[in-house]
Amino acid sequence: MIYLLVAQPALQAQPALQAQSAQDSIENKAQIELGRRLFYDADLSINGTMSCATCHEQRRSFADGNQAHPGALDDPGKRNVPGLANIGQFKNLTWAHNHLSGLAEQSLMPIRGTNPVEMGMNGHEDEIRKRLGQNGCYQKLFLLAFPKEKGSIHFGTVSRALESFQKTFISNQSLYDQMMEKGTSLPTKNAQRGKKLFFGAAQCNTCHTAPLFSDDDFHQVQPREQKTTDYGLSDVTGNPKDKNVFRTPSLRNAALTSPYWHDGSAKTLIEAIQKHDLKINQTLSHQEITELVAFIDTLSDMTFVNNPKYAKPSKKCPY
Ligand code: HEC
Ligand code: HEC
Repeated sequence: MIYLLVAQPALQAQPALQAQSAQDSIENKAQIELGRRLFYDADLSINGTMSCATCHEQRRSFADGNQAHPGALDDPGKRNVPGLANIGQFKNLTWAHNHLSGLAEQSLMPIRGTNPVEMGMNGHEDEIRKRLGQNGCYQKLFLLAFPKEKGSIHFGTVSRALESFQKTFISNQSLYDQMMEKGTSLPTKNAQRGKKLFFGAAQCNTCHTAPLFSDDDFHQVQPREQKTTDYGLSDVTGNPKDKNVFRTPSLRNAALTSPYWHDGSAKTLIEAIQKHDLKINQTLSHQEITELVAFIDTLSDMTFVNNPKYAKPSKKCPY
């Protein structure tokens, strides 16, 4: 187990990311800058009250502290807001969906989605064009970011810019990463024991697989027969085998993203661990769970949550 871990590539060395920096073109840079502005812009919601960042707060690794977050028109939220660290590395997006094509398509779910209504812009593409088109900085940015489309403002260009920005969300500076890089040991005995358990006897790594701490795959970790209003993957596939199946969430920065589980039903990491309908999780002693939590704490990356690149941009136009 330990050897496997050492052989794992660091996050920054993964091919997808290198490819992105290799095409560090003016277009790509403008898309990132544009995506950042859009991410923080409440003009993307019907009544101007809600941006992506209303639910995805940088200081919480882009989760929020609520069980679920109501939409712009007060529709109750259906699921807990997930964090967005390293989101560009996931093929399967959201808690339970297996055929979204990527971050661009995903970003249109909050903008246009109706179940629940989040930003409420379904059918209001013209309104977005009008609102953003009035702003000189947006005009310049759309043109630089999408020259082939002559800077046209529509759901397609908006969502591609949001994708480019979110692909820059790399979190790989935690204590755990420092340990992996420099070969140092983790700061406390509890964290060291927790690491050993995580990759060993407690088998957490089989699903929360390093370095993402998610295998980006689907599992049933709550009782199949459990009645709920949200059956996860089977609501998308219609297959009864997918009932109560959800994608493994990443545990990077998990100490910053409470509450937990797709329905926000676990308030603490301890509850989140105990809640798995897996024999092993339920037989862990209190001391062992404390050690696992101490290990998960070492996955927190304060550089990521304080990185000015991801913060709300100043009003001043960069171009
Ligand atoms: C009202 C709160 C809310 C707003 C506003 C919102 N989101 Fe989300 N976001 C969520 C919730 C809840 C989920 C989980 C949805 C699910 O699993 O069905 C989510 C999921 C995501 C995911 C997938 C994360 C993962 O782990 O797979 C991404 C990416 C994302 N949102 C980006 C955005 C962007 C970009 C915007 C702005 C256009 C946005 N969100 C606006 C609540 C929100
Ligand atoms: C069989 C796969 C699997 C194994 C093994 C597993 N988990 Fe999970 N874990 C999941 C899935 C799937 C979820 C999401 C459940 C949901 O929301 O319905 C989850 C959720 C969590 C969460 C909540 C994260 C969040 O952001 O909401 C934590 C913390 C967690 N697991 C820790 C652990 C630990 C520690 C272990 C080892 C003792 C472990 N898990 C073993 C699949 C697994």
